[in-house]
Amino acid sequence: MSPLSPAPDPFAAFKAVQREGWSHFGPRAIFTTPPAARLVRFARITAGQRVLDVGSGTGVTAITAARLGANVMGTDLTPELLAQAAENSRVSHVDVEWRVADVEALPFGDAQFDVVISQFGHMFAPRPDVAVTEMLRVLKPGGTIAFSTWPPDHFTGRMFALTARYAPPPPPGAMSPVLWGEPGVVRERLGDRVRDLVFERDMMNINTLSPQHVRHFTEHTAGPVRKLVESLSGSDSGKLEQFRAEFDALAAEYFEMNQMRQSYLMSRAVKA
Ligand SMILES: C[S@@+](CC[C@H](N)C(=O)[O-])C[C@H]1O[C@@H](n2cnc3c(N)ncnc32)[C@H](O)[C@@H]1O
Repeated sequence: MSPLSPAPDPFAAFKAVQREGWSHFGPRAIFTTPPAARLVRFARITAGQRVLDVGSGTGVTAITAARLGANVMGTDLTPELLAQAAENSRVSHVDVEWRVADVEALPFGDAQFDVVISQFGHMFAPRPDVAVTEMLRVLKPGGTIAFSTWPPDHFTGRMFALTARYAPPPPPGAMSPVLWGEPGVVRERLGDRVRDLVFERDMMNINTLSPQHVRHFTEHTAGPVRKLVESLSGSDSGKLEQFRAEFDALAAEYFEMNQMRQSYLMSRAVKA
């Protein structure tokens, strides 16, 4: 590196790994489809509103909002998922504009949207203060911000915490995604930039044959877990076996009647 080259950005490298991991998320959207309808209803989206969806994935929330007649911009870090989202909008006969975008640097001017939503998306940005400042910047005053997040004390939150214990440390300053599932943290992060903050909990069910099936599917489809298993497979099979045993024990706590049942948090506020 020449003395004049800029220092490498650790967050850019972190996001490149995340992007690769999330590119395999597609089959998992079968489970995020019912919560998408609940978030769109919770956000009180109506026809004609200009809506930004952050971390759209395969487009479940963006398309649900567009089917109500909203004018939707769907964004995500991962281009492979947006290609699937575009196919899903074609199948649904709705127009949604799709754009690759990092929530920490949204490519839109100030106060462009009536509603900004994110379902289990913005929570994965490593710097929550940067992400939420961007989401509020592009929202009109009086507009609605609404998102769904995984709490730290339910299956998915605990599963991401378990994964983080085995994974290489994130860049200094990166925060755990599941802190977004704590109402107190959400309140603090939004602060006095919003009013009328409300919370609601709902349930997400995963149909599955065994706790081991949950792990098998998650290893293939959930970005951070996929990347961890890839790296341990090549380097430390003992640690991988230990991770898998801990995962199965955790999944077994939530497994009943061939379903995993877990609660998640929805938050909604109005930009002051
Ligand atoms: C759990 S998936 C949720 C996808 C979709 N919203 C759903 O509910 O099916 C997380 C999504 O967040 C996206 N994501 C992660 N970090 C992001 C970032 N910094 N900016 C934008 N999207 C991001 C991933 O690419 C992935 O599509």
